[in-house]
Amino acid sequence: MTARLLRVDPWNPDPGLIDEAARVIRGGGLVAFPTETVYGLGADGTSATAVAGIFHAKGRPADNPLILHFAAPELVAGVAVVTPSASKLMELFWPGPLTLVLPSLGVVPREVSAGLDTVAVRMPSHPVALALISRAGVPVAAPSANTSGRPSPTDAEAVFSDVGASVDLVLDGGATSVGVESTVLDATGPDLVLLRPGGCPVEEIEARAGARVLLSGGDGRRSPGVRYRHYAPRVPLLLNPTREEVALALSEAGAGARARVAWMGLEGPEVSLGDGTVDLELSVLFDTPENYARGLFHALRTFERLGADIIAARLPDTDRGMGRAVRDRLERAASRSHENP
Ligand code: TXA
Ligand code: MG
Repeated sequence: MTARLLRVDPWNPDPGLIDEAARVIRGGGLVAFPTETVYGLGADGTSATAVAGIFHAKGRPADNPLILHFAAPELVAGVAVVTPSASKLMELFWPGPLTLVLPSLGVVPREVSAGLDTVAVRMPSHPVALALISRAGVPVAAPSANTSGRPSPTDAEAVFSDVGASVDLVLDGGATSVGVESTVLDATGPDLVLLRPGGCPVEEIEARAGARVLLSGGDGRRSPGVRYRHYAPRVPLLLNPTREEVALALSEAGAGARARVAWMGLEGPEVSLGDGTVDLELSVLFDTPENYARGLFHALRTFERLGADIIAARLPDTDRGMGRAVRDRLERAASRSHENP
């Protein structure tokens, strides 16, 4: 099977196309669609078999739960306990790139929450995502539409190259605007705990909700997904490397005299990597942390496709704002210590 690719206006999606995609979801099929963060791989979140299709298409470990996507906040009460803090956060940040982990009512298929007694919920702001979910009439389970372990897809081309052979339909609404996935917050109890930094910065949540966000969440216990290798390009990724580290990585990669080193960051290298080491055709400087987030996954995939032998990246100097999510994704993408998916 090869997915059908339908172009859709990201601001005013054609109702006929949305209807068609919604029918695929209701029929138990898989539809990749744009959200404001990254492309999602959607299926009927009330159907165990449809959800199983997602895990199969991505090669995703069964113990890594999925986010359920809704078209209106009040629908969440059908699957989860809406805690007072969650209710306030929904009011402030939905629709938008914030996912809330809540106590589950136990009505969603156990595949969705991977057997946990919690469920993750989000209302995206992308017009195509909202129209599709609303028309489907069911909560839509959707992880990022990449093969498990690969950089998340921020355009339809990336979706197609990863999962084009195993989904029914890809809605192409152009490049996504945030570029990294939603922030995941555990809102099951009185303390908000950050499980994954993302498109909604912690500082903004604290300022607008008037609540502290604990940063100790990413230990693999409360957020199963962080155990696995993530976002990794097919060539080595080095963070803030020295000249010696670059030379070693190139020799380990078996790169010859015409080795190509890609670069990305808010600035050039902090220490000299040697004249001509970085290939200027494979180099991108982002002017803000927001633009770094927007372009990060696309840059990883592009460098890989254009034949970089290694990719070097400079971490943002700050953990504030989108800097936190950018650092997190780069550190995971560069890490060799996680389990393979
Ligand atoms: O921006 C996003 O969130 C995108 C778009 C498509 O909405 N979706 C996305 O899904 O990033 P995924 O599956 O790639 O990442 C979901 C993360 C994983 O780290 C998963 O472990 C965590 O959310 N998660 C899901 N349900 C959970 C739960 N009940 N408790 C803790 N973590 C959960
Ligand atoms: Mg993902």
